[in-house]
Amino acid sequence: MDGPPYYFAAGPAVLPRSVKLRIRDELLDYGNTGVSILELGHRSDAFLEIVDRSCSRLRALLEIPDDYSVLLLPAGARAQFSMIPLNLAGPETAVDFVLTGYWSRQAMNEAARYCPVNVAASSEADDFNSIPSADSWKLDDNAGYVYLTANETIKGVEFHALPDGIRRPLVCDMTSSILTTPVDVSRYGLIFAASQKNLGTAGLCLVIVHRDLLGRARPETPVLFNYARQDEMNSLMNTPPVVSWYVMDRVLDWLQQQGGPAAMAAMHEERSARLYRCIDDSGLFGNRIAVNCRSRVNITFELHQTALRDTFIQASRAAGLLALEGHKSAGDFRASLYNAMPTAGVDALIDFLRDFETRHG
Ligand SMILES: Cc1ncc(COP(=O)(O)O)c(C=O)c1O
Repeated sequence: MDGPPYYFAAGPAVLPRSVKLRIRDELLDYGNTGVSILELGHRSDAFLEIVDRSCSRLRALLEIPDDYSVLLLPAGARAQFSMIPLNLAGPETAVDFVLTGYWSRQAMNEAARYCPVNVAASSEADDFNSIPSADSWKLDDNAGYVYLTANETIKGVEFHALPDGIRRPLVCDMTSSILTTPVDVSRYGLIFAASQKNLGTAGLCLVIVHRDLLGRARPETPVLFNYARQDEMNSLMNTPPVVSWYVMDRVLDWLQQQGGPAAMAAMHEERSARLYRCIDDSGLFGNRIAVNCRSRVNITFELHQTALRDTFIQASRAAGLLALEGHKSAGDFRASLYNAMPTAGVDALIDFLRDFETRHG
């Protein structure tokens, strides 16, 4: 049965219950190998089968064209903040950033250690509660790439459409939105997403990169961070997090059975709209994000009566609604509703908010 409790954490995040049961059943003896997945060697046939199968599942689910490489790299999403400039920009090549929140700013600060960075657009003056309209972006036709964050996980700010006419390779952090909606991969030079939200558990970072962008790494790029070298090695240059890879494969299998990103998009559309409506209709709760860029998967809200904060958290925990605290930099509350969050969890949250308001509003 799907909960409660419901776990609304932003990542590591909820896994599908059926996947957890399958992991439990497979834990002691993976695929009749006689060894546990916790022990399985990364050069074993059984693990190489997991690698091939999961990459095929990713290609099918995201309709990744053949001229893109699929890499699974170490050190989470943050490592990409340095790998991307090291692989795609020379020390003199300026790159364009569209700043829409904490993660795009972090990525820009890191890139600035390697190459000149331009702020092509920023919503900082609006406290990152919106996305700058595309006609205000000042893109440089010579930029090495244009960098976007598809979904800013902390405040819950999401691009719902990609602006047209971007002439430089587009690099996009999809850590919190990958596989929650179909994506036209061919519009991007590089997409990346850490695994701990919609791809399973922490430990891997998916990088989908156009093959034309391979082979440009600076000589000083650490070999483990070199996309072309990792591509040649099938992402197995060093010992990968075997368990994370296995969990990802099981999550992708589950996702294929659910109907993939198109089915997820319909689900997210419907249930996030209901939760935002509940917040908007309330006199006690509010959401500050501009309506046209509200995230479907990280929904933030605040309590107008801040004195009720601790009461809210205690009562929500008692109701089996876990990890609703917002990120330390944003205060407030946040419900992360990734693919694996059962819709019953969203229903329970909406009922709880209404009930809390009746009692305390
Ligand atoms: C959009 C986004 N980018 C990057 C990161 C950093 O991910 P990691 O902890 O895997 O480095 C996060 C983490 O939550 C994120 O939400």
